[in-house]
Amino acid sequence: MSTNLKDIQAPIQAELKEFERKFRESMKSEVPLLDKITHYIVQKKGKQLRPLLVLLSAATCGKITESSYTAASFVEMIHTATLVHDDVVDESYLRRGFFSINALWKNKIAVLVGDYLFSRSLLLATDHKEYELLQILNYAVKCMSEGELLQMDKTRKLNITEPVYYDIIGAKTASFLAAACEAGAASAKATEEQKQLMHQVGYNMGMAFQIKDDLFDYGEAQIGKPKGIDIQERKLTLPLIRALDVSDRKTQKRIRRLINNHKNKKHKIREIIDFVHTTDGMSYTHQKMMDYQKIAADLLQQFPDSPYKKSFGQLLEFVSSRSK
Ligand code: IPE
Ligand code: IPE
Ligand code: MG
Ligand code: MG
Repeated sequence: MSTNLKDIQAPIQAELKEFERKFRESMKSEVPLLDKITHYIVQKKGKQLRPLLVLLSAATCGKITESSYTAASFVEMIHTATLVHDDVVDESYLRRGFFSINALWKNKIAVLVGDYLFSRSLLLATDHKEYELLQILNYAVKCMSEGELLQMDKTRKLNITEPVYYDIIGAKTASFLAAACEAGAASAKATEEQKQLMHQVGYNMGMAFQIKDDLFDYGEAQIGKPKGIDIQERKLTLPLIRALDVSDRKTQKRIRRLINNHKNKKHKIREIIDFVHTTDGMSYTHQKMMDYQKIAADLLQQFPDSPYKKSFGQLLEFVSSRSK
């Protein structure tokens, strides 16, 4: 089975093109500085996974409608806004292989641009009187903010457990992918049952997706954003949580001290990464990711067969096999 993004997109290639046109259009601004920055953002686009999910979910449930495009633009715009803010919060200077907005224009402007994108996305929904979409997606944005704050609160104390980790990534990432799938279904006038099922597919996919993202931070591959940054920001993610869980008290103490006191020294971060690799932290985390992916794939099977459902299934595989 192919897990190449181009092949996955193939059945809805024309619709994705239409989405991109609409998305670019909805980012425009009369304010020159804003227009310059949103232009930069649109040019350095990411994988556009969330709009792809919206459209595939709609097509799997019925058909892609005008509402599906609104939902697709909405999710990508909110996602972009959260990344712009996330890079301020994480003090990260690289995004999608290029300088982040805060790196180029500083924090103040990045915060305002993020706010602008948030409000533009809300307008997109209200302009089209899409109140169900607004409800589904805005709820996810609330969860996302809670997740990011929960993460800050927990990781500061360095005592985060595996169940709390799942709570955090469920709130900050999975809830949003769940909403993208549910919104796609809603835009295709799916039944209440189908919407809930799609929500579950997206949620489990989102769990796998964030676990993969957290694995990247400990990996060797170049991914277009900085690595080791989770440790630097004292974000304890599953590879390190697991590594600490299976270590003796003395080692735990030594690693905690390293995270606390030397987080900005490159060779100390390396030492922490190397420590994780001496345990089963990576393979254990990989297995958990595959478990979530399997749950999503099994749920997806409840929908009728179609080329769209097939692509959707491949997209689930892409989540764990992707290289960025
Ligand atoms: C990054 O999301 C943020 C996470 C939730 C891990 P993506 O990996 O989808 O980012 P882009 O849009 O492709 O850059
Ligand atoms: C995901 O967390 C951020 C959001 C859900 C907004 P990360 O901080 O791990 O995302 P990246 O790695 O910077 O893309
Ligand atoms: Mg980040
Ligand atoms: Mg990350």
